[in-house]
Amino acid sequence: MTVLVTGARGQVGRGVVRRLHAAGLPVRAASARPGELSVPAGVESVELALGRPETFAAALSGVRQVFLYPEPSGVDAFVGAARAAGVEHVVLLSSAAVLSEAAAEDPLGSHNLRVEQALLASGLSCTLLRADSFASNALAWAHPIGRGLPIELPYPEAALAVVHPEDLAELAFAALTGREPRGRAVTVTGGESLTLRRQLAVLAEVLGREIPVETIGRAAAAEQLGRHMPAAFVESLLTYWAAASGGAPAALGDTTRTLLGRPERTFRQWAVEHAGEFAAHRPGPPAQPRAGITSAP
Ligand SMILES: NC(=O)c1ccc[n+]([C@@H]2O[C@H](COP(=O)([O-])OP(=O)(O)OC[C@H]3O[C@@H](n4cnc5c(N)ncnc54)[C@H](OP(=O)(O)O)[C@@H]3O)[C@@H](O)[C@H]2O)c1
Repeated sequence: MTVLVTGARGQVGRGVVRRLHAAGLPVRAASARPGELSVPAGVESVELALGRPETFAAALSGVRQVFLYPEPSGVDAFVGAARAAGVEHVVLLSSAAVLSEAAAEDPLGSHNLRVEQALLASGLSCTLLRADSFASNALAWAHPIGRGLPIELPYPEAALAVVHPEDLAELAFAALTGREPRGRAVTVTGGESLTLRRQLAVLAEVLGREIPVETIGRAAAAEQLGRHMPAAFVESLLTYWAAASGGAPAALGDTTRTLLGRPERTFRQWAVEHAGEFAAHRPGPPAQPRAGITSAP
């Protein structure tokens, strides 16, 4: 029976669609902007906006499993529609931010927690992938790097265990095909702790060009980030970076190694695969950012 993949033009959703299709499983790729989806030939696509319940019925018709990215607005309606449609299992792309003691008060933590709670209360079988920061958050640097501009950071020494989105897609695919971690909540980190400065050094090596890093104040960073994400998320992200700047390495989990039986994909690997996206940019505004894109887990 069909698997519905929400966020199918996202970093993780794309990989989930590709794997399901390659395995010969029926998959429906969903997006709030289906016209911008790029899916393998033969994959059905559908409009699904998690905040617009009128799009749910068609997207969920004949669906037994869902890969869901977290959007609290409309989640109760979505869960109700999923149950009514006969969905049995949901894999949620959640965040390690839900594990913080202050998660319920933290905008990023509560964003994900709200969706986890709705799913856990639903009676549906759930797999919760609580991801650390994505390696792909580095795409936010593509525009300045492409124009030779310095990267301005308030907390360049913030140490993160960045996750390669393909590791998340592979874990989601495993859960959707009946293997571990199906039915569990797991934390997913990368295999190495890297400061933001070190990530930029890796990118510089891979791209073969210098990437200057400048430290800016928190207020200036908040102003910059606020152009791309809601103010509440900005404060949450800055607080997360500040807390990760104490000199201790980021905590590393072993979910990927244990469940997939191989080491985590590295940030360097991600950088090599995406080097083309850091090529020279023509002058102009940065790509339209989106609210959910953060460097926090
Ligand atoms: N980024 C992180 O470090 C991180 C860490 C842990 C958890 N997460 C969670 O994972 C989810 C997805 O990760 P992400 O934030 O990095 O996003 P992403 O995977 O790149 O995109 C997720 C979805 O956001 C929508 N979107 C809105 N504007 C977009 C745009 N301009 N370009 C492409 N997609 C756009 C798309 O859905 P539609 O096509 O339906 O609009 C897309 O599929 C987030 O909701 C977040 O809560 C992220």
